[in-house]
Amino acid sequence: MSAEPQKTFYLETFGCQMNAHDSEKVIGTLVSEGYQQVPTVEEAGLVLYNTCSIRDKAEQKVFNRLNDYKKLLKQGKKFGVLGCVAQQEGEKIFGRAPYVSLVCGSASYRKLPEMLIQIEAGKRATGLDDRQTDECFETEFTARTNPHRGYITIIEGCDKFCAYCVVPFTRGKERSRGSDSVLAEARQMADLGYTEIQLLGQNVNSYRDPAGKRTFAELLAAVGETPGIRRVRFTTSHPRDFGRDIIEAIDAVPALCDHVHLPVQSGSNNVLDAMQRLYSLDQYLERIAWMKAARREISITSDMIVGFPGETEADFEATLALLDEVGYDSVFGFKYSPRPNTPSLKLEDAIPDEEKVRRLSVLNEKQREIQKKGNQRHLGQTLEVMVEGQNSARGQWVGRTSQNKVFNFTAAEGRVPSIGSYTSVLATVCLPNSLVGEMVV
Ligand code: 5AD
Ligand code: SF4
Repeated sequence: MSAEPQKTFYLETFGCQMNAHDSEKVIGTLVSEGYQQVPTVEEAGLVLYNTCSIRDKAEQKVFNRLNDYKKLLKQGKKFGVLGCVAQQEGEKIFGRAPYVSLVCGSASYRKLPEMLIQIEAGKRATGLDDRQTDECFETEFTARTNPHRGYITIIEGCDKFCAYCVVPFTRGKERSRGSDSVLAEARQMADLGYTEIQLLGQNVNSYRDPAGKRTFAELLAAVGETPGIRRVRFTTSHPRDFGRDIIEAIDAVPALCDHVHLPVQSGSNNVLDAMQRLYSLDQYLERIAWMKAARREISITSDMIVGFPGETEADFEATLALLDEVGYDSVFGFKYSPRPNTPSLKLEDAIPDEEKVRRLSVLNEKQREIQKKGNQRHLGQTLEVMVEGQNSARGQWVGRTSQNKVFNFTAAEGRVPSIGSYTSVLATVCLPNSLVGEMVV
């Protein structure tokens, strides 16, 4: 009796941490169905792309990939599109790339085992959410890739409908996971040796425990108090739902990292209104003031969009002024990109690309200067670093501080820090995007 040939798959992931974590669950599910993950498209029987559609550029990547590998179809490979582009484009993908046999949005991953049987039988399979699904994608089979830091999705979807944003359409309505189940997973991860947990959600702080047992801040604190867990991060927060109790939890529980990512998108009330962000600049600044009054110094990071329809030079100047006022530790800047289904698609995208490019480069340049100065405050500080890897060429180790700053450091004589361990490092050089230092024995 000969064994059946091993079914193999290759998976490439684009986009945010939610997508990265979904991929871990997809990998776990496929492995439990008898598939083996392989590192190259060439070796795989099934080629999967877990896609992102946040901006047009992200969306184009999957179609470029599919085009690149079209020739491999002759070898009997099967192709599948998962994630946000799958949800957004649905069966249109079969029209655009007829050799694709699987199209599946994130809310339908639990049906993957059945869909795999269909595509193996030479049929097409489609799994699309209608925004009414009320469960989170939980599976016993999560193939976590990092043995020290793990993600837990606590809330999926988004009900905010910011004018520019595709997420409510690709990830459906908000649905939270029970806090007992989140805590059970946190304990299980601690038992497996994980020390850092990242709680994920498109709108993580809109979390609503279906059992009504814990608020988001209480859940955060409880995860932080799990024995063995040394660091807890959470991303991404929306300013409207950002309560003071989150800062109080950070004050009370040392394992909660002193870092908050709070996307503002614009420093102008006119633009915030047009974006339907549901807060004013003053309300946003009130939240920043809470963070600045915290016991530990909290590093603050944000996302900004330049060139939203109707953004005037004065609006843009207001965004630049906000950079100064907050003194962010890091900012991700993006050029506005019109997306399917979104409310702002109706607004004329009148700002020329060259002007968006200019505004983005002015913003990035200004922020770089702010970080160059701001990071100097770490000079001479000894900070705890979780060791993530080694850069042998430079004879350095690399890790991250609780504030999420990248630290490149040299080990003390005769010491080899192990990956995933925590060590104290003295900052001797502070660059705009990283710190450099020496391990303290
Ligand atoms: N165009 C440009 N940037 C966008 N973002 C979300 N949608 C768009 C869009 N249509 C940015 C926001 C968000 C980050 C993840 O991506 O800044 O916070
Ligand atoms: Fe991209 Fe948003 Fe989907 Fe994440 S949720 S993969 S950022 S479109």
